[in-house]
Amino acid sequence: MRVLTVQNNEEMAQKAADILLAQVILKPDCVLGLATGSTPLGAYRSMAARNKEVSFAQVKTVNLDEYCGLDATSPDSYVSYMRENLFSHIDIDIANTYLPDGMQEDVSAACNAYTALIARLGGIDLQLLGIGHNGHIGFNEPDTVFQMDTHCVTLSKSTLDANAVHFARPADMPKKAITMGMRPIMQAERVLLLAGKEKQSILQEALYGPVTPQVPASILQLHKHVIVIYVAA
Ligand code: PGA
Repeated sequence: MRVLTVQNNEEMAQKAADILLAQVILKPDCVLGLATGSTPLGAYRSMAARNKEVSFAQVKTVNLDEYCGLDATSPDSYVSYMRENLFSHIDIDIANTYLPDGMQEDVSAACNAYTALIARLGGIDLQLLGIGHNGHIGFNEPDTVFQMDTHCVTLSKSTLDANAVHFARPADMPKKAITMGMRPIMQAERVLLLAGKEKQSILQEALYGPVTPQVPASILQLHKHVIVIYVAA
């Protein structure tokens, strides 16, 4: 594990964008695992600003998660977030960008389809992650076991409290989501974990405390190639 400390969000964004762009230069047809939330926004902005430097024409992306009941017509969905913050600014083929289908009535079929899709793509070359205040990665919430494959989760109070602010009407925030499980994250060639200074204490617990499903990100201690970039408090 490589742990890089930076002074502010801007520096974190630049370094993260450098690593993501380097991955695409190194392997133009790579599979990027992407994240949503506030933390990666700066990195996406920086990638968008440098969109003449690197072509995403052959890149495929799989996102970590999506809310149940939201699709591209909802400004609060993660499919909308990705289009607005990254995909519409780079030359990626939108047909090569994937998120779990939060609209499918048969949720377990949607989960199985996403697991199968990631396998069909041959796994993930570089997985970008944020970390929740409760240690979640994707929407893998604290649990009694590490959930390995795509599954539907009931979002924890900590996650609902943290994310409701992103909704025009917080009461509209779905209480359930579909998330990638730990297997594709742990099988990713590389993982890039970003954390702002407000995540300092949970990040220390995840990186140096016991490996436990109660702190889902702690599983990354067992990953062969993790880069952590965090903003010093
Ligand atoms: P944030 O969320 O980037 O909005 O803080 C990170 C996460 O919950 O994984």
